[in-house]
Amino acid sequence: MALASSSSKMLLSSSFFGSLRGIHTTTSVCAERLKSFDIYRYNPENPNEKPHMQTYKVDLNACGPMVLDALIKIKNEMDPTLTFRRSCREGICGSCAMNIGGTNTLACISKIDASNLNKPVKIYPLPHMYVVKDLVPDMNNFYNQYRSIQPWLQRKNEATEEKGNAQYLQSVDDRAKLDGLYECILCACCSTSCPSYWWNGDKYLGPAVLMQAYRWIIDSRDESTQARLDSLKDPFSVYRCHTIMNCTRTCPKGLNPGKAIAEIKKLLAGLAQKGEPGLETAKLHKK
Ligand code: SF4
Ligand code: SF4
Ligand code: FES
Repeated sequence: MALASSSSKMLLSSSFFGSLRGIHTTTSVCAERLKSFDIYRYNPENPNEKPHMQTYKVDLNACGPMVLDALIKIKNEMDPTLTFRRSCREGICGSCAMNIGGTNTLACISKIDASNLNKPVKIYPLPHMYVVKDLVPDMNNFYNQYRSIQPWLQRKNEATEEKGNAQYLQSVDDRAKLDGLYECILCACCSTSCPSYWWNGDKYLGPAVLMQAYRWIIDSRDESTQARLDSLKDPFSVYRCHTIMNCTRTCPKGLNPGKAIAEIKKLLAGLAQKGEPGLETAKLHKK
């Protein structure tokens, strides 16, 4: 019986792979489906050459379905000088953020539009950022702003608390307040789609960083709430947001940074309160 079932498995697998080979053969004789990719090029090592667009034609029959697949194919097979960031290729690391067809998004989860081969895919770096090379923006200002909001858990009596022996407790309801905030991958698609950030990116923190500021402000375990709010009280850090909502529209993770900013404004104006934590955790950490 075991023999019979293993031989039937062999039959099944050989016919399965036979049919796969059939698919491959059919594909390989298909006519090419050429799609143009118009890509922003800038090389700082060649100062006499101005930034320009360069067109590459990719056969979609020999390319994966996403824009990042096409970029990797171009780099591997046509032009190794093409420069872009990528890592996870599944919308988690945020490094392949760029402007594709007029929208800030992640190349690895953007499907190539194969329905109209005559329409080129236009790819630029994230807008209004200094460009390091080709599709690579300079993220230093963005990361410095993220550092400025001190994105870590802070406790009032940290020096007198014992560490490592107990968890910081959080009620289910308090934990739920972090949903829609902690999922941010800091890709900067939202900040670089925000007109206020374009014009005041040196002083306005922008939607991505403000959403993370709110993530720590609203965390029931964090006790630096007032200091965090006080640091945002100047005319620029938060109040350059005019609720245009480009940020929320463009977020490739479906998050709502515009709403988080509105929540910060309510806390700053005293129209909302953080409230007491649902679970008391300080006693567990006394020395
Ligand atoms: S809602 Fe605020 S942060 Fe979002 S795009 Fe508009 S101005 Fe920028
Ligand atoms: S809120 Fe969305 S668009 Fe903005 S940095 Fe986070 S994941 Fe990216
Ligand atoms: S490669 Fe990581 S988000 Fe695209």
